Amino acid sequence: MTRIGVLLGSSRKRSLSRAAALAASGLVAAGVRVDLLPHPDTLPHFDQDLLDEGLPPSVAALAAEVTASDLLLIVTPEYNWSIPGTLKNAIDWLSRLKPDNPLENKPVAIWTVSPGLMGGARAHEPIRHILHSQGMRIMARPEVQISGAAKKIDVDGALITDAATSDFLRDHLARFLRFGGY
Ligand code: FNR
Repeated sequence: MTRIGVLLGSSRKRSLSRAAALAASGLVAAGVRVDLLPHPDTLPHFDQDLLDEGLPPSVAALAAEVTASDLLLIVTPEYNWSIPGTLKNAIDWLSRLKPDNPLENKPVAIWTVSPGLMGGARAHEPIRHILHSQGMRIMARPEVQISGAAKKIDVDGALITDAATSDFLRDHLARFLRFGGY
């Protein structure tokens, strides 16, 4: 079983990003699982003093789930043309794990989701910039930006209702698996 772990950038109850991530489960071949990882909101704000006292259990739990994932998919809104703070905070925590940073060499892809016209396009480069700092294997193309997402995603059913979008995402996931060597 190949496992894609999803790191979410929004914890909102009616999050479009979360619905898109849940829909991904229905867009992969048999033998592939898409699992939502513990949400970055479960982590405290990074503080070196906290780390010095011992790894918080929530960080250890997320790190274990990242390690157990063959590939990492980041599904997130764009906040002010950049990465949501909770997601950056999660990466800051994971980056300090010794001896092994669970992000290093992990294949990763990014989906941005927005009700707006640009689909979160401006968040891609800031996110890639941070992922590069961790030595991750980033699939930079094709970029996934789900624009006008409120009209393409059924949040209650966690479904992509726009056929062109679901075809594109299915293809993207297949390419991502090949990129990761699966
Ligand atoms: C936003 N939103 C937003 N949208 C966008 O396309 N570009 C942006 O830069 C921003 N900036 C931004 C900042 C903050 C603090 C918030 C709360 C929102 C709107 C955002 O795309 C919209 O609220 C999404 O629905 C949030 O994603 P989820 O929660 O639906 O996954």
